[in-house]
Amino acid sequence: MENRIRIDYTNMLASAVGPNGITEEEFNTALHKGEAALKSLREKRDIIRWRDLPYNQTAIVREIKAVAEKVRNSCESFVVLGIGGSALGPIAVQQALNHPRYNELPREKRNGPKLYVEDNVDPERMAALFDVIDPETTVFNVITKSGSTSETMAQLLTVMRTLIDLYGEERLKDRLIATTDCEKGNLIGIAKKYGLTTFYVPEGVGGRFSELCPVGLLPAAVCGIDIEDMLSGAALMDALCDSDDIMKNPALIYAVLETAAMEKGANVGVLMPYADSLKYFADWYAQLWAESLGKKAGDKRFGQTPVKALGVTDQHSQVQLYTDGPFDKTVTFLGVEKYRTEFTIPHAVDENPNVAFLSGHTFNELISAERRATEHAVTVSGHMNKTILLPAVSAETIGQLIMLFELATAYAGEILGINAYDQPGVEEGKNMTYALLGKKGYEAKLDEMKEDTCRRMV
Ligand code: PA5
Repeated sequence: MENRIRIDYTNMLASAVGPNGITEEEFNTALHKGEAALKSLREKRDIIRWRDLPYNQTAIVREIKAVAEKVRNSCESFVVLGIGGSALGPIAVQQALNHPRYNELPREKRNGPKLYVEDNVDPERMAALFDVIDPETTVFNVITKSGSTSETMAQLLTVMRTLIDLYGEERLKDRLIATTDCEKGNLIGIAKKYGLTTFYVPEGVGGRFSELCPVGLLPAAVCGIDIEDMLSGAALMDALCDSDDIMKNPALIYAVLETAAMEKGANVGVLMPYADSLKYFADWYAQLWAESLGKKAGDKRFGQTPVKALGVTDQHSQVQLYTDGPFDKTVTFLGVEKYRTEFTIPHAVDENPNVAFLSGHTFNELISAERRATEHAVTVSGHMNKTILLPAVSAETIGQLIMLFELATAYAGEILGINAYDQPGVEEGKNMTYALLGKKGYEAKLDEMKEDTCRRMV
């Protein structure tokens, strides 16, 4: 089987070019915008350095693999400290490519240490981490591009205090690895002071575009994932997505269809993988799509609210809305042609034909039939939808999928005419948090907030 993912957008066209979708003429206009986006993204090649990651990391991959090997052999748990783009990719890739119950497996059945990704500052969760790990056999990887995010710094302080109290400052370097910018932020100084093994987030690689650099590659390699296959999958997709033929350029056609749908009021974009292994991939995608495209330019506002759904689980929760609800959404199904396991539904009550019809089929047939049935139901109800088909979930196809969505987001940004790489709204929240917690230099922000609160109170 060819190991390349494909987009089947015939349903999108069938349902989009119709009474509740886009007209033929609008579709042609969207294609012209797509051509312009292809050109303008090519001109930005020097700025969007995340596109180079599949090609320029030979030396760093060697280093990552060497460190990962040491970590794998020396610890029971590997804990990632980070949030947003520094956490969602490692979670998605781990869930996609390792055993579904990886942490619960005995050591000899796992490809590496248990993996925990601490992507929140819920106090109960932070405290609970220390109930399940033994610092003596744990390595921590603190990941922050900016080197200053409060959540990550709070986690880091907690871990440093614990390790220093237990083992002394000089042994921090045995248990703590840093991934950050080579100059900016506070983490780089801390890393240098304590002599930590440090990996860098390259210039021009934003948080949500960073899964294919050491941010994502180190945790993946520690857990035994083939990071070279991920990168070669990404390279393959990058080349496909540079095609001048829009219909053969998966990221561009995705962006063209979604932005045309957005113009017609599709403010919601549902991503519905039919595989538990891709469940957290939808979380990673949600950040990428929301944070990149949710922007204002002049008096216009852009963006599409990403919604995560899981097939078939959410057929019994959300699909009613996706068939009979308003025409304000698109649905993208993620299908898998060959699951890594085949599991047959056994015979148990052959005397009851209403149940027995399932026996002898496989769970594989069942989940695929449910996906096809839902695609049909969504299509005949007139809702715009398309399917991305993975021949199998593997390091290579996950690399392809990451690059596909990163490029689709970048093309969509070009079509909408917005900056897909900044996040002023997120920064504002970070700055307000600094102000509220008394960080020096943020006094004016605090005053601003007090004034706003007073206004709202009267
Ligand atoms: O995409 C982004 O830039 C953000 O979502 C960041 O990933 C997130 O805010 C965490 O930032 P940092 O990695 O600087 O700690």
